Amino acid sequence: MKKTKGFIFDLDGVIVDTAKYHYLAWKQIADSLSIEFTHEHNELLKGVSRVRSLDIILELGNVQATQEQKDQWLVQKNEEYLSYLVNMDESELLPGVLPVLNYLKENQQLIALGSASKNARPILEKTGILSYFDAIVDGNDVSNAKPDPEVFLIAAKLLNVPASAAFVFEDSVAGIQAANIGNMTSIGIGDATILHEAHYNFKDFTCIGTPFLNELIQR
Ligand code: BG6
Ligand code: MG
Repeated sequence: MKKTKGFIFDLDGVIVDTAKYHYLAWKQIADSLSIEFTHEHNELLKGVSRVRSLDIILELGNVQATQEQKDQWLVQKNEEYLSYLVNMDESELLPGVLPVLNYLKENQQLIALGSASKNARPILEKTGILSYFDAIVDGNDVSNAKPDPEVFLIAAKLLNVPASAAFVFEDSVAGIQAANIGNMTSIGIGDATILHEAHYNFKDFTCIGTPFLNELIQR
């Protein structure tokens, strides 16, 4: 008999490739402040909240700012980011995501979102996958950022599954650490050398076959 498990997905970099849009929006702020901001620097922002991301960029440029200035840049960054999402549709789902979501649903498994983003819902709506999620926990629901496990613990609680029955898909080091600290099974999506703390690693969802999913479901 199949057992019901909780499958928790991060959003940015796992379900959709939005890291490039976050980068472009932050780059505009950084350029206006004459702060060098490369794709390598952008790696530091993965899984990190909007507020903390700005602080990291200001630290990179050794720039001091008032709270008022910061608030203005945060609004500006998000407006720019949202402008890239206007035309977003299901074509921006990362390869293999939809077949995995479908397989889990067909097998009566529970699915949650566990993301730091405050823009999660509109992205799930635009890409047409909102209805797959039994629970959504995003940047509006948490007070402690990854690697704190709060976001995943709330998700597991909403799904009504214990941590031992929760599997977390993540593309950030902080997210993998959060899942591990929460005593969940962490599944790294991306570069295995960067995500070496994960219990399992896959380059992307096309590399996850049904035997692996069955093994998790039957566990
Ligand atoms: C995370 C991204 O998922 O969400 C970060 O990896 C981003 O890069 C964070 O800063 C917050 O997103 P948002 O949409 O609330 O600015
Ligand atoms: Mg991510």
